[in-house]
Amino acid sequence: MTMRSVEEKERVCVTGAGGYVASWLVKFLLLKGYMVHGTSDEKNAHLKKLENASENLQLFKADLLDYEGLCAAIAGCTGVFHVACPVPVGSVPNPEARFQVDLIEPAVVGTRNVLDACLKAKAKKVVVVSSIAAVGLNPNWPKNQVMDENCWSDKEACKATKNFYSLAKTMAETEALEYAEKGELDIVTVCPSIVIGPMLQPTINASSLLLLALLTDGHKTVEDTDRPLVDVRDVAEALMLVYEKPEAKGRYICTSYQIKMQALAHKLKGIFPNYSYSKSFTEDDYEANLSSERLQKLGWKYRPLEEILRDAVMNYEEKGILHKA
Ligand SMILES: NC(=O)c1ccc[n+]([C@@H]2O[C@H](COP(=O)([O-])OP(=O)(O)OC[C@H]3O[C@@H](n4cnc5c(N)ncnc54)[C@H](OP(=O)(O)O)[C@@H]3O)[C@@H](O)[C@H]2O)c1
Repeated sequence: MTMRSVEEKERVCVTGAGGYVASWLVKFLLLKGYMVHGTSDEKNAHLKKLENASENLQLFKADLLDYEGLCAAIAGCTGVFHVACPVPVGSVPNPEARFQVDLIEPAVVGTRNVLDACLKAKAKKVVVVSSIAAVGLNPNWPKNQVMDENCWSDKEACKATKNFYSLAKTMAETEALEYAEKGELDIVTVCPSIVIGPMLQPTINASSLLLLALLTDGHKTVEDTDRPLVDVRDVAEALMLVYEKPEAKGRYICTSYQIKMQALAHKLKGIFPNYSYSKSFTEDDYEANLSSERLQKLGWKYRPLEEILRDAVMNYEEKGILHKA
Protein backbone atom coordinates (compact mmCIF):
# COMPACT_ATOMS: atom_id res chain seq x y z
CA MET A 1 0.00 0.00 0.00
CA THR A 2 1.49 3.34 -0.97
CA MET A 3 1.10 6.56 0.98
CA ARG A 4 -1.17 9.23 -0.41
CA SER A 5 0.76 11.89 -2.29
CA VAL A 6 -0.09 15.54 -1.88
CA GLU A 7 -0.59 16.46 -5.53
CA GLU A 8 -3.29 19.01 -4.91
CA LYS A 9 -2.48 20.95 -1.80
CA GLU A 10 -4.35 19.23 1.00
CA ARG A 11 -5.34 21.37 3.98
CA VAL A 12 -4.81 20.00 7.48
CA CYS A 13 -5.03 21.48 10.97
CA VAL A 14 -2.56 20.91 13.83
CA THR A 15 -3.74 21.86 17.33
CA GLY A 16 -1.12 23.29 19.70
CA ALA A 17 1.12 23.94 16.68
CA GLY A 18 3.79 25.83 18.64
CA GLY A 19 4.52 22.92 21.04
CA TYR A 20 7.46 20.49 20.95
CA VAL A 21 5.93 17.58 19.00
CA ALA A 22 3.57 19.72 16.95
CA SER A 23 6.32 22.07 15.68
CA TRP A 24 8.14 19.12 14.06
CA LEU A 25 4.87 17.85 12.63
CA VAL A 26 4.11 21.29 11.13
CA LYS A 27 7.63 21.42 9.68
CA PHE A 28 7.30 18.00 8.00
CA LEU A 29 3.77 18.70 6.73
CA LEU A 30 4.91 21.98 5.15
CA LEU A 31 7.91 20.24 3.57
CA LYS A 32 5.56 17.67 2.07
CA GLY A 33 3.39 20.33 0.47
CA TYR A 34 0.43 20.41 2.84
CA MET A 35 -1.41 23.65 3.58
CA VAL A 36 -1.36 23.83 7.36
CA HIS A 37 -3.69 25.55 9.79
CA GLY A 38 -2.16 25.72 13.26
CA THR A 39 -3.78 26.66 16.53
CA SER A 40 -1.23 28.48 18.61
CA ASP A 41 -0.87 31.46 20.91
CA GLU A 42 1.83 34.13 20.49
CA LYS A 43 4.72 31.63 20.94
CA ASN A 44 4.89 30.89 17.24
CA ALA A 45 7.69 32.98 15.71
CA HIS A 46 9.67 29.76 15.09
CA LEU A 47 6.79 28.37 13.01
CA LYS A 48 6.72 31.39 10.73
CA LYS A 49 10.38 30.77 9.87
CA LEU A 50 9.79 27.17 8.67
CA GLU A 51 10.29 26.34 4.99
CA ASN A 52 7.07 27.04 2.99
CA ALA A 53 5.46 28.69 6.05
CA SER A 54 5.03 32.09 4.44
CA GLU A 55 2.78 30.65 1.69
CA ASN A 56 1.26 27.59 3.32
CA LEU A 57 0.93 28.12 7.08
CA GLN A 58 -2.00 29.94 8.65
CA LEU A 59 -2.16 30.42 12.42
CA PHE A 60 -5.33 30.70 14.50
CA LYS A 61 -5.81 31.55 18.13
CA ALA A 62 -8.00 28.87 19.75
CA ASP A 63 -8.02 27.50 23.26
CA LEU A 64 -9.19 23.89 23.54
CA LEU A 65 -12.23 25.08 25.47
CA ASP A 66 -13.13 27.57 22.74
CA TYR A 67 -15.31 25.52 20.39
CA GLU A 68 -16.02 28.40 18.00
CA GLY A 69 -12.31 29.21 17.75
CA LEU A 70 -11.54 25.56 16.99
CA CYS A 71 -14.27 25.50 14.32
CA ALA A 72 -12.69 28.53 12.64
CA ALA A 73 -9.25 26.84 12.65
CA ILE A 74 -10.53 23.48 11.36
CA ALA A 75 -12.96 24.81 8.70
CA GLY A 76 -11.86 23.71 5.23
CA CYS A 77 -9.45 21.02 6.50
CA THR A 78 -9.67 17.43 5.31
CA GLY A 79 -7.40 16.21 8.10
CA VAL A 80 -6.77 17.18 11.70
CA PHE A 81 -3.89 16.34 14.04
CA HIS A 82 -5.02 16.92 17.60
CA VAL A 83 -1.74 17.36 19.46
CA ALA A 84 -2.53 20.06 22.06
CA CYS A 85 -2.80 19.07 25.70
CA PRO A 86 -1.27 20.47 28.88
CA VAL A 87 1.90 18.49 29.71
CA PRO A 88 2.84 19.25 33.31
CA VAL A 89 6.39 19.08 34.62
CA GLY A 90 6.31 16.53 37.44
CA SER A 91 3.16 16.39 39.51
CA VAL A 92 0.40 18.95 39.17
CA PRO A 93 0.60 21.65 41.86
CA ASN A 94 -2.25 21.41 44.37
CA PRO A 95 -3.64 18.47 42.37
CA GLU A 96 -6.92 17.90 44.17
CA ALA A 97 -8.13 21.44 43.49
CA ARG A 98 -6.61 22.13 40.09
CA PHE A 99 -6.41 18.90 38.14
CA GLN A 100 -9.99 19.17 36.91
CA VAL A 101 -9.42 22.67 35.53
CA ASP A 102 -5.75 22.39 34.53
CA LEU A 103 -5.76 18.93 32.97
CA ILE A 104 -9.05 17.07 32.67
CA GLU A 105 -11.03 19.87 31.05
CA PRO A 106 -8.51 20.83 28.35
CA ALA A 107 -7.66 17.16 27.73
CA VAL A 108 -11.15 15.63 27.71
CA VAL A 109 -13.54 18.50 26.92
CA GLY A 110 -10.84 19.83 24.57
CA THR A 111 -10.70 16.54 22.66
CA ARG A 112 -14.49 16.45 22.41
CA ASN A 113 -14.53 20.05 21.14
CA VAL A 114 -11.88 19.27 18.51
CA LEU A 115 -13.78 16.17 17.35
CA ASP A 116 -17.10 18.06 17.20
CA ALA A 117 -15.37 20.76 15.14
CA CYS A 118 -13.91 18.05 12.84
CA LEU A 119 -17.37 16.59 12.33
CA LYS A 120 -18.79 20.01 11.54
CA ALA A 121 -15.99 20.60 9.00
CA LYS A 122 -16.55 17.10 7.51
CA ALA A 123 -12.88 16.23 8.05
CA LYS A 124 -11.94 12.89 6.51
CA LYS A 125 -9.43 11.76 9.12
CA VAL A 126 -8.35 12.79 12.62
CA VAL A 127 -5.15 11.73 14.38
CA VAL A 128 -5.27 12.20 18.15
CA VAL A 129 -2.04 12.24 20.14
CA SER A 130 -2.46 10.22 23.30
CA SER A 131 0.45 8.87 25.39
CA ILE A 132 1.85 5.77 27.02
CA ALA A 133 0.46 7.50 30.13
CA ALA A 134 -2.85 6.08 28.84
CA VAL A 135 -1.31 2.61 28.43
CA GLY A 136 1.11 1.72 31.19
CA LEU A 137 -0.52 2.48 34.54
CA ASN A 138 -2.26 -0.86 34.79
CA PRO A 139 -1.57 -2.92 37.95
CA ASN A 140 -3.67 -5.80 36.56
CA TRP A 141 -1.55 -6.33 33.44
CA PRO A 142 0.54 -9.55 33.81
CA LYS A 143 4.07 -8.57 34.87
CA ASN A 144 6.02 -10.35 32.15
CA GLN A 145 3.59 -9.66 29.33
CA VAL A 146 4.55 -7.01 26.81
CA MET A 147 2.19 -4.02 26.93
CA ASP A 148 0.53 -3.60 23.55
CA GLU A 149 -2.45 -1.59 22.36
CA ASN A 150 -4.83 -3.79 24.39
CA CYS A 151 -3.37 -2.44 27.62
CA TRP A 152 -5.07 0.64 29.11
CA SER A 153 -4.12 2.63 32.20
CA ASP A 154 -6.56 1.94 35.00
CA LYS A 155 -8.43 5.12 35.93
CA GLU A 156 -8.82 4.12 39.59
CA ALA A 157 -5.08 3.34 39.81
CA CYS A 158 -4.33 6.76 38.25
CA LYS A 159 -6.47 8.45 40.91
CA ALA A 160 -5.05 6.36 43.75
CA THR A 161 -1.48 7.26 42.74
CA LYS A 162 -2.49 10.90 42.05
CA ASN A 163 -1.29 10.52 38.48
CA PHE A 164 -3.68 13.06 37.04
CA TYR A 165 -1.84 13.45 33.72
CA SER A 166 -2.26 9.69 33.09
CA LEU A 167 -5.91 9.98 34.11
CA ALA A 168 -6.46 12.91 31.72
CA LYS A 169 -4.74 11.17 28.78
CA THR A 170 -6.65 7.91 29.45
CA MET A 171 -9.98 9.73 29.59
CA ALA A 172 -9.18 11.80 26.48
CA GLU A 173 -8.11 8.79 24.39
CA THR A 174 -11.14 6.80 25.53
CA GLU A 175 -13.31 9.75 24.48
CA ALA A 176 -11.64 9.79 21.04
CA LEU A 177 -11.98 6.05 20.38
CA GLU A 178 -15.59 5.99 21.61
CA TYR A 179 -16.28 8.90 19.26
CA ALA A 180 -14.75 6.82 16.44
CA GLU A 181 -17.15 3.96 17.23
CA LYS A 182 -20.09 6.17 16.28
CA GLY A 183 -18.76 5.81 12.72
CA GLU A 184 -19.04 9.49 11.79
CA LEU A 185 -15.30 10.28 11.86
CA ASP A 186 -12.21 8.25 10.98
CA ILE A 187 -10.10 8.64 14.16
CA VAL A 188 -6.71 7.07 14.92
CA THR A 189 -4.79 7.52 18.19
CA VAL A 190 -1.02 7.43 18.70
CA CYS A 191 0.57 6.85 22.11
CA PRO A 192 4.20 8.07 22.21
CA SER A 193 6.55 7.17 25.05
CA ILE A 194 8.86 9.85 26.53
CA VAL A 195 9.72 12.14 23.64
CA ILE A 196 13.30 13.38 23.35
CA GLY A 197 15.45 14.96 20.64
CA PRO A 198 16.04 18.47 19.29
CA MET A 199 13.55 21.26 19.91
CA LEU A 200 12.27 23.74 17.33
CA GLN A 201 10.36 25.84 19.85
CA PRO A 202 12.23 28.43 21.95
CA THR A 203 11.07 27.31 25.43
CA ILE A 204 11.98 24.00 27.10
CA ASN A 205 9.12 21.49 27.17
CA ALA A 206 8.57 19.01 30.01
CA SER A 207 10.03 15.83 28.44
CA SER A 208 13.23 17.57 27.24
CA LEU A 209 14.08 18.05 30.91
CA LEU A 210 14.89 14.32 31.15
CA LEU A 211 18.10 14.59 29.11
CA LEU A 212 18.90 18.09 30.35
CA ALA A 213 18.78 16.85 33.94
CA LEU A 214 21.07 13.90 33.18
CA LEU A 215 23.63 16.26 31.64
CA THR A 216 23.69 18.57 34.65
CA ASP A 217 22.84 16.31 37.63
CA GLY A 218 26.47 15.83 38.76
CA HIS A 219 25.85 16.23 42.47
CA LYS A 220 22.46 14.49 42.62
CA THR A 221 21.41 10.90 43.23
CA VAL A 222 19.25 9.73 40.34
CA GLU A 223 16.69 6.90 40.38
CA ASP A 224 17.84 4.23 37.94
CA THR A 225 14.41 3.96 36.32
CA ASP A 226 13.82 2.09 33.07
CA ARG A 227 12.59 4.68 30.53
CA PRO A 228 10.80 4.10 27.23
CA LEU A 229 12.00 6.75 24.75
CA VAL A 230 11.25 7.94 21.26
CA ASP A 231 12.63 10.72 19.06
CA VAL A 232 10.40 13.74 18.41
CA ARG A 233 10.99 13.56 14.64
CA ASP A 234 10.06 9.86 14.63
CA VAL A 235 6.83 10.73 16.48
CA ALA A 236 5.98 13.42 13.90
CA GLU A 237 6.63 10.89 11.13
CA ALA A 238 4.42 8.31 12.89
CA LEU A 239 1.59 10.85 13.02
CA MET A 240 1.89 11.52 9.28
CA LEU A 241 2.14 7.80 8.55
CA VAL A 242 -1.10 6.89 10.34
CA TYR A 243 -2.76 9.87 8.70
CA GLU A 244 -1.68 8.94 5.20
CA LYS A 245 -2.21 5.18 5.40
CA PRO A 246 -5.90 4.49 4.84
CA GLU A 247 -5.58 1.09 6.55
CA ALA A 248 -4.39 2.65 9.85
CA LYS A 249 -7.14 2.08 12.43
CA GLY A 250 -7.46 2.23 16.21
CA ARG A 251 -4.52 2.75 18.52
CA TYR A 252 -0.73 2.74 17.99
CA ILE A 253 2.00 2.73 20.63
CA CYS A 254 4.99 4.77 19.43
CA THR A 255 8.23 3.93 21.24
CA SER A 256 11.69 2.88 20.15
CA TYR A 257 14.06 2.34 23.12
CA GLN A 258 13.88 1.16 26.71
CA ILE A 259 16.89 2.13 28.74
CA LYS A 260 17.77 2.64 32.41
CA MET A 261 18.86 6.12 33.45
CA GLN A 262 22.38 5.02 34.41
CA ALA A 263 22.88 3.32 31.03
CA LEU A 264 21.52 6.44 29.32
CA ALA A 265 23.95 8.67 31.23
CA HIS A 266 26.74 6.26 30.23
CA LYS A 267 25.75 6.52 26.55
CA LEU A 268 25.64 10.31 26.72
CA LYS A 269 29.03 10.34 28.44
CA GLY A 270 30.46 8.26 25.59
CA ILE A 271 29.50 11.02 23.13
CA PHE A 272 29.80 14.10 25.36
CA PRO A 273 32.34 13.18 28.07
CA ASN A 274 32.64 16.60 29.72
CA TYR A 275 29.18 17.20 31.15
CA SER A 276 28.40 16.79 34.83
CA TYR A 277 26.83 13.32 35.08
CA SER A 278 25.55 11.85 38.32
CA LYS A 279 27.82 9.28 39.96
CA SER A 280 25.09 7.96 42.21
CA PHE A 281 22.05 5.97 41.10
CA THR A 282 19.46 4.22 43.28
CA GLU A 283 18.02 0.84 42.30
CA ASP A 284 14.58 0.73 40.73
CA ASP A 285 13.32 -2.63 39.48
CA TYR A 286 10.41 -1.28 37.40
CA GLU A 287 10.76 -2.44 33.80
CA ALA A 288 9.04 -0.66 30.93
CA ASN A 289 7.80 -3.36 28.60
CA LEU A 290 6.04 -1.71 25.66
CA SER A 291 5.77 -2.73 22.03
CA SER A 292 5.43 -0.65 18.87
CA GLU A 293 5.12 -3.74 16.68
CA ARG A 294 1.74 -2.61 15.34
CA LEU A 295 3.15 0.75 14.17
CA GLN A 296 6.24 -0.90 12.71
CA LYS A 297 4.03 -3.28 10.72
CA LEU A 298 2.44 -0.18 9.21
CA GLY A 299 5.90 0.91 8.01
CA TRP A 300 7.19 3.08 10.88
CA LYS A 301 10.95 3.23 11.36
CA TYR A 302 13.01 4.97 14.02
CA ARG A 303 16.49 6.45 14.12
CA PRO A 304 19.45 5.20 16.20
CA LEU A 305 19.66 6.28 19.85
CA GLU A 306 23.16 7.75 19.34
CA GLU A 307 21.82 10.07 16.65
CA ILE A 308 18.95 11.22 18.88
CA LEU A 309 21.28 12.00 21.79
CA ARG A 310 23.85 13.76 19.61
CA ASP A 311 21.22 15.92 17.86
CA ALA A 312 19.50 16.76 21.14
CA VAL A 313 22.63 17.88 22.99
CA MET A 314 23.92 19.86 20.00
CA ASN A 315 20.52 21.56 19.82
CA TYR A 316 20.65 22.51 23.53
CA GLU A 317 24.15 23.91 22.99
CA GLU A 318 23.08 25.90 19.90
CA LYS A 319 20.11 27.33 21.80
CA GLY A 320 22.37 28.33 24.72
CA ILE A 321 20.41 26.12 27.15
CA LEU A 322 23.59 24.14 27.82
CA HIS A 323 27.02 25.70 27.80
CA LYS A 324 29.41 23.46 25.88
CA ALA A 325 31.39 21.43 28.41
N1 LIG B 1 6.64 15.02 25.28
C1 LIG B 1 6.34 13.79 25.67
O1 LIG B 1 7.15 13.07 26.28
C2 LIG B 1 5.00 13.21 25.31
C3 LIG B 1 4.84 11.82 25.43
C4 LIG B 1 3.62 11.27 25.11
C5 LIG B 1 2.59 12.05 24.64
N2 LIG B 1 2.77 13.40 24.55
C6 LIG B 1 1.64 14.18 24.06
O2 LIG B 1 2.08 14.92 22.94
C7 LIG B 1 1.35 16.13 22.83
C8 LIG B 1 2.31 17.28 22.69
O3 LIG B 1 3.13 17.36 23.84
P1 LIG B 1 4.53 18.13 23.84
O4 LIG B 1 5.51 17.28 24.50
O5 LIG B 1 4.78 18.65 22.49
O6 LIG B 1 4.20 19.30 24.86
P2 LIG B 1 4.22 20.89 24.70
O7 LIG B 1 5.44 21.34 24.01
O8 LIG B 1 3.96 21.40 26.08
O9 LIG B 1 2.98 21.16 23.77
C9 LIG B 1 1.66 21.15 24.23
C10 LIG B 1 0.85 22.06 23.34
O10 LIG B 1 -0.50 22.04 23.78
C11 LIG B 1 -0.97 23.36 23.85
N3 LIG B 1 -2.02 23.51 24.87
C12 LIG B 1 -1.98 23.14 26.17
N4 LIG B 1 -3.13 23.47 26.77
C13 LIG B 1 -3.91 24.08 25.84
C14 LIG B 1 -5.20 24.64 25.84
N5 LIG B 1 -5.95 24.67 26.93
N6 LIG B 1 -5.66 25.15 24.68
C15 LIG B 1 -4.93 25.16 23.56
N7 LIG B 1 -3.68 24.63 23.49
C16 LIG B 1 -3.19 24.10 24.62
C17 LIG B 1 0.25 24.18 24.25
O11 LIG B 1 0.06 25.51 23.89
P3 LIG B 1 0.58 26.66 24.90
O12 LIG B 1 2.06 26.52 24.96
O13 LIG B 1 0.10 27.90 24.23
O14 LIG B 1 -0.08 26.39 26.21
C18 LIG B 1 1.31 23.51 23.40
O15 LIG B 1 1.34 24.04 22.11
C19 LIG B 1 0.45 16.19 24.07
O16 LIG B 1 -0.83 15.70 23.70
C20 LIG B 1 1.12 15.23 25.04
O17 LIG B 1 0.21 14.70 25.96
C21 LIG B 1 3.95 14.00 24.87
